[in-house]
Amino acid sequence: MTLLSKQGASIIATGSAVPELCINNHEISKVVETSDEWIVSRTGIKERRILNGINNSITDLATLAAIRALNKISMDPLEIDLIILATSSPNDLFGSASQIQANIGAYNAAAFDITAACSGFIVSLTTATQFIENGVYNNILVIGADALSKWTDWSDRSTCILFGDGAGAIILQSCLPDDKGILGFQLNTNGQKYNQLCLAYKDYYNTSNSLKITQGAFNKITMNGREVYKFAVSQVPESIEKCLYKLDIPIEEINWIILHQANKRILEAVANKLIINNNKFISNLDKYGNTSAASIPLVLDEAVGKQIIQRGQKIIISGFGAGLTWGTIAIQWKY
Ligand code: COA
Repeated sequence: MTLLSKQGASIIATGSAVPELCINNHEISKVVETSDEWIVSRTGIKERRILNGINNSITDLATLAAIRALNKISMDPLEIDLIILATSSPNDLFGSASQIQANIGAYNAAAFDITAACSGFIVSLTTATQFIENGVYNNILVIGADALSKWTDWSDRSTCILFGDGAGAIILQSCLPDDKGILGFQLNTNGQKYNQLCLAYKDYYNTSNSLKITQGAFNKITMNGREVYKFAVSQVPESIEKCLYKLDIPIEEINWIILHQANKRILEAVANKLIINNNKFISNLDKYGNTSAASIPLVLDEAVGKQIIQRGQKIIISGFGAGLTWGTIAIQWKY
């Protein structure tokens, strides 16, 4: 049964921010045994931005991305009803969205974090859409921001070459149901494979007093690269097809596809499976690497800025990663 929505939701602005420090493959080859040629041929990544220095946090980047999105449409932050921060590397495990609320002065907004790794932006945009379609809120700021460099094992050459830091933001606004920009979504989880890509908690005994309580810390990122690759290539095309099938939109009508920027070979394999020309896939992977929850809004903001994405065009965005989680959203661009 399909419930009728009270209102539709459309993206009305985008913004993004990346750290200044740029580390190319040659520099990485000085700390682990690898080469620019290996990294480019296996992943497509040439360089990545890394958050470095004291008092320079992912919350600052997320704040900047949010301010840039607000400024594009001269929106007063007091008009924002809700802030959703997609991140798996917050400054504060209790949540960092509230810091962003204060930083931008969005004092009327509720704010919370969503943790879904590289699918975080898709899960958060889907969540935001529900609040709007139910008629509860009118303006929602959705931010994808991650600094996985903080959790990368810089001695593991199979993972440290992949990740970069960044933040991307969108503003979602209510509209008439017939004018909606968020057309539909499709979400999935396979928890049985959660251990293929983890940033796992570990216990240790705190022996500093007689209670000997077990306490926690987080390990660095661990990944089974081949399994994650196979998962993405098999599941992402299926998710896109299911999403479009539900909406009765033929894939030929899609103007642009923006996948989570994990690996050039994954993008190419998905294009082959869907029998879609590679040039419909927008990518900036070479410059930023895998920025986790930030990757899709970073591409969106860049593509809108370069006027690649035009009003009225249909776009697929699709995220995948730890969990394992994956999902797709179909969008019609409205501004
Ligand atoms: N430089 C040079 N050699 C490397 C290397 C590096 N950075 N990383 C791994 N290797 C080596 C391995 O040690 C292995 O050597 P061996 O044959 O002597 O044992 C060889 O390259 C092949 O390793 P393998 O893991 O099979 O490589 P791969 O072709 O699968 O490429 C990844 C590795 C990580 C690039 C690839 O598996 C991948 O992209 N997976 C998806 C990861 C991803 O996108 N994760 C995030 C999802 S959100």
